[in-house]
Amino acid sequence: MIQDRNLALAARQIERAQVNKSLRPSIAGFFDEATNTVSYVVHDPKAGEAAIIDSVLDYEPASGRTSNASADRMIDYLTSNNLKVMWHIETHAHADHISAAPYLQEKLGGKLAIGREITRVQDVFGKLFNAGTEFERNGSQFDKLFDDGETFGIGGLEGIALHVPGHTPADMAFIIGDAAFVGDTIFMPDFGTARADFPGGDAHQLFRSIRRLLSLPDKTRLFLCHDYKAPGRDRYAWESTVKQQREENVHVKDGVSEEDFVEMRTNRDKTLAMPTLIMPSVQVNIRGGRLPDPEDNGVSYIKIPVNAV
Ligand SMILES: [Fe+2]
Repeated sequence: MIQDRNLALAARQIERAQVNKSLRPSIAGFFDEATNTVSYVVHDPKAGEAAIIDSVLDYEPASGRTSNASADRMIDYLTSNNLKVMWHIETHAHADHISAAPYLQEKLGGKLAIGREITRVQDVFGKLFNAGTEFERNGSQFDKLFDDGETFGIGGLEGIALHVPGHTPADMAFIIGDAAFVGDTIFMPDFGTARADFPGGDAHQLFRSIRRLLSLPDKTRLFLCHDYKAPGRDRYAWESTVKQQREENVHVKDGVSEEDFVEMRTNRDKTLAMPTLIMPSVQVNIRGGRLPDPEDNGVSYIKIPVNAV
């Protein structure tokens, strides 16, 4: 087996946090029922420093109206806990909701971060939306582009980024203390895994990325980006562990081969409709969550490519 040095670094970080309580983050999940997305506030209780992961801007597709209600719930939580935001982290360019990072960043400060490979996503979707040269495909809309194995801090907490492509080429998992924010890779064990059929997605890569995450220590706390309930479960849930996923995940538990996974994933993806908000979401999220520049009447417009996808 190829030695995965960065994964070993992540595993050691998790083990340190498992034995030392002061290296464990406090975590609050905020569920958005309209898009089935979970946003997180992760903080170091001692230092009072926090990161926001995968925030949601409410968007009504029929009217084109946005609202900050979801983001304001997070602001209330941050204010009442006296937390200073250091990071706005995106696990990837989401296709099902618009990020509220620019709004939150303006209100709270902090740096906006995403994975280095966002430039590939910007390239693909820049072409699809026929964006002009004013749309830069170099990730400059973000303050920080993370590479695999790159470390960061939140107060006294240790963090490390892992590149986990497959759902999109740019997906990252962010490990903070003993908790892993795995973005769109795995979902709850009874629901399975993320789709791999968006432009640049790859089911083989997704399988390897997931198995990489599942080789972290058994007790690693996993925090998921979405939940859709599952047959027999009528409550939303978004936290599990490596051990639970290895034993129970209906798509990728121990013993499932890459070939079997890819066949299942490919067949299942063919049955899935595109997410309702894919066009507005991707168009805005590849710009770091900023709406396209307003036209001469002061209004921003979202484009829909017809018969192009
Ligand atoms: Fe996604």
